[in-house]
Formats: sequence, structure tokens, C-alpha cells
Amino acid sequence: MRQALPTDELLRSAFADAQAMGDLPRYRVLYEAVRRAIFSQALIPGARLPSTRELARDLGLSRNTVLSTFEALLAEGYIVARTGSGTFVAHAAGAPPKGRGRRTAADVARAAALPARSSPEELSKRGLRLARFQGGRRLEILPMCGPEADFTLFPMKQWQRLQSRQLRHGHLQLLDYATQGGFMPLRRAIADYLRTSRAVRVEVEQVVLTAGTQHSLDLCAQLLADVGDTVWIEDPGYWGARCIFESCDLKIEPVGVDDEGMNPERAPRGSRPRLIYVTPSNQYPMGVPMSLARRRLLLQIAARERAWIIEDDYDSELRYSGRPLASLQGLDAGQRVVYVGTFSKVLYPGIKIGYMVVPASLAEPFNSALYDLQRPGQLTVQAALADFIERGYFVTHIRRLRQAYAERRELLVEALRPQLGRLAQVTSQPAGLHLAIGLPEQCDDRHVAALAARSGTTVRALSEYFIGPALARGLVVGFGYTPPDKLITHGRLLAQTLKTAVRN
Ligand SMILES: Cc1ncc(COP(=O)(O)O)c(C=O)c1O
Repeated sequence: MRQALPTDELLRSAFADAQAMGDLPRYRVLYEAVRRAIFSQALIPGARLPSTRELARDLGLSRNTVLSTFEALLAEGYIVARTGSGTFVAHAAGAPPKGRGRRTAADVARAAALPARSSPEELSKRGLRLARFQGGRRLEILPMCGPEADFTLFPMKQWQRLQSRQLRHGHLQLLDYATQGGFMPLRRAIADYLRTSRAVRVEVEQVVLTAGTQHSLDLCAQLLADVGDTVWIEDPGYWGARCIFESCDLKIEPVGVDDEGMNPERAPRGSRPRLIYVTPSNQYPMGVPMSLARRRLLLQIAARERAWIIEDDYDSELRYSGRPLASLQGLDAGQRVVYVGTFSKVLYPGIKIGYMVVPASLAEPFNSALYDLQRPGQLTVQAALADFIERGYFVTHIRRLRQAYAERRELLVEALRPQLGRLAQVTSQPAGLHLAIGLPEQCDDRHVAALAARSGTTVRALSEYFIGPALARGLVVGFGYTPPDKLITHGRLLAQTLKTAVRN
């Protein structure tokens, strides 16, 4: 291979290009220039570099600058120094591009310039699917007043104190990776909480801490199913779960939902699930609880098929009337349910701490795979959270949230009241952080959502949450993280939109 340009000319041009990268120290500019020229093979393996003195003079740099650059390049193996004969581009520093002949000076100059942008064709097929899905943008239930969420209900002062207490005490062990399923006192606190408030059958060893529900679902999909296995998911259902299962190349089978939750009779005939993903406490996004009969039926199916049920109990703390519902896991004598919970709804979304209660036989495999796949950490946050629960702040906070959100939901329903009745109805139970509103079959709910957006109110069209044909029309309206005054204003605006859109 021959070099297209003399080395000194090439370095001058690469240095000028690297200067265009912005405000970098001079040694860094030179480092980038030489590194890129080597990487792109504008400077070929074995090429002799000018002496540091010559290069400094040529580029108007101090000799120390050039010396530090050469030291870094030597340490990283881009160049080698041979005593008495000079400095050369290392032979292992770049592999020649296959199938190419000699490169022109223009090729060289282009390759030595700024990094190439990757184009979508370079994504894997899975990557392309994931990038095109755009679930968050289309389907995430946002506060109806817009994307600016209001977090003022969160007890920030208490939380700050507990976090800084952990850091102040400086338990050095908390700086390590989280082994063994996470911080033990937090696992214990979660087990105690779930036993008493969610009727979950749990020993502390079964609790696995994760980085939230998405992470838990990913682990379930990877550890409990193989490529091509069937997963039943609710239709309409949670797009986040669908996205994870698709990314693991599982076969998605949407199963219709009615006012008792997922209805297995609507599954394709002869379908044999390996995983069954459900939100029994508060079906997402319809907001109905699963009936006892359905819970029993699903457990029977799981036992018969040796399938795993994944119970996503994402917001069950937030029920505003009636008794709290017991978990599906608590009814299961057959150890076929993985219970998945999160602190995203009851504390704040960005905390990204979730947990799973796995059947006892899965605890060890889940923990060791979690460690190998992820090297989990965040022990200081986990420790602060354990403190938060043990001191009773968690229960107090949930009580406050319940009260505040019961009132806010009521404010929204009141604001919508003039339009509720024959044409639009609240179909979700008093729970969670969103309202599901049913609209007549012939109504184009996407059009209604678009109209609402024009008046500054964010709502989602129910039909968007279906994987199969959209069998219901409606709106999904987030009242979480929205202050009361804004709920009233936007509730009234939405009522106006419904009035014009639905009657026409
Ligand atoms: C159905 C459902 N499950 C779980 C979650 C929480 O996910 P994570 O714990 O990954 O934040 C959400 C959040 O919106 C959700 O809608």
C-alpha cells in the first residue's frame, strides 16, 4: 500500500480539519488529527512521522504539545518509536478496507475529516424495528397539561436528607456493584410491604431488585422464553412490554380485553403461550381490574401450559375507592407467576428502581444472570429508599398521594361532566394516574386527540393501543403530575373539544 500524500502535507491538512472540531486544547487537536489519519489509513502502517521538532515548527505548536501527543499515541499503540530511526505508524493500528484499490487524495482527505455518520441501513433488523417503533412519542401517557410534569407532591426534603445521610455516613461498601439481587435491607422492606399490602407470597430471597419494570420484563423474556416462543399480551395493552418482547424476538399474540380484563377465549385457537403478560390490578390503558374468575382461569392455563404469568402491578397503590385488590401472585399455588413492581409511579419516574418477586426456584438463576448481564449498582439510592420505607415515610407518602389524586381525578371528571353521558363515558375505575374515556364506535379518536392537541391539551387515542383491529374508540387522559388548577382548565378545554368533535 502506498500513501496518497506526503506525510507532512497530510498532517497539515488533518490538523486543519481537526481544528474545525471546536474549542479543544491544541495537543488534543493534534492527537485527533494523527489518530484519524492513521485510523482512516491516510497515514499507512509503517509510515515515518516527522520528528517532534519538525512537526512543532510546521504546525506552529510548542514542542511540549507535540511530545505529549506522541506519548498518548504511543501509549495507545497507534505509533511505535524505534530508537535511533524515528517514530512510525504501527502495523496493527488499522486494517485495510476490503476490496478497495488505491485511494485518491480526495478519499484520503474525506476519510481523515470528521467521523462518518451511521445511516439507518447500518442498524440491525431488530434495531430498525426498535428505532421505528416510537412508542414513547406516540403512546406514553403524559400529563394532560403537556410534557412538563409537576412533581411537587414528592417529599423532596425528606428524600434529600436520606440520600445525603447515606453519602455522609460514607459506607464504602455501597460504592460496589450490587450483588445478590440488590441491597438486602431494601429487599427485606419490599418483601414486608408486599406481604401486608399486596398479599404477595414472598420470602426475601425471592425479591430481585432491577432498574424498573422495563428491565424486569427484559430479564423475564430473556430467562424464561426462547426466540420464537409465544407471549400473550393484552390488547389494547402496554406498548413498553410489547417493545421488550419484540426486541427479544418473541412471537406476540394479542389477546382481547373486556370489562373483566384479559379474555383468554379471545386468544388465537390452539395458541400455546410461554409467557402471559397482564396488568390485573389496573389494566393498561383501559383501567379495569381483572375479575376473580379470569384470575383463576389464567392460573389454570399457566399450570396446564407450563407458561409463566408476568403480573405487572405498576400502580396498584393508587386506588381511590374500595379495598385494595390482592395480587394475582398471591392466589397462585403453582409458582407460575412472576410479580413485577416499580417505584416509578409512587415515587418518581426517574428513580428507575423496580423489583420482581420470582418463584423460589428462579431466584438463584435470576440473580446470577442479572449480575452477569448488567452488573447492577445504585446501592446508595437503594439504601436511601430502604430508609424511606423503614421510617414509615413511604406509607405516609402513599396515603397523601392517594388523597391528592382522588381529588384531582374528581376535579377532572367534574370538568368533563357536561360532556359525559351518552356519547362519552369514563370507563376506567377510580385508580391510577389516567382516565380512560369511551367514545362511540364511529368516532375517530385520533382526530379528537389531534383537536385536543391544537388547544394545548395532551391526550392519547385509545385505538392506538391496539395491536390487532381497534375494537374500541376513546381517549386516554393523564391526570398524574398535573396541578389542580391546570386539571380544571384543561378538563374544560377537553370537554369543549369533545362537544364539537363527538357530536359532529
Ligand atoms: C403498564 C406499566 N408498567 C410499568 C410502568 C413503569 O415502568 P418503569 O418501572 O420501567 O418506569 C409503566 C409506566 O408508565 C406502565 O405504564
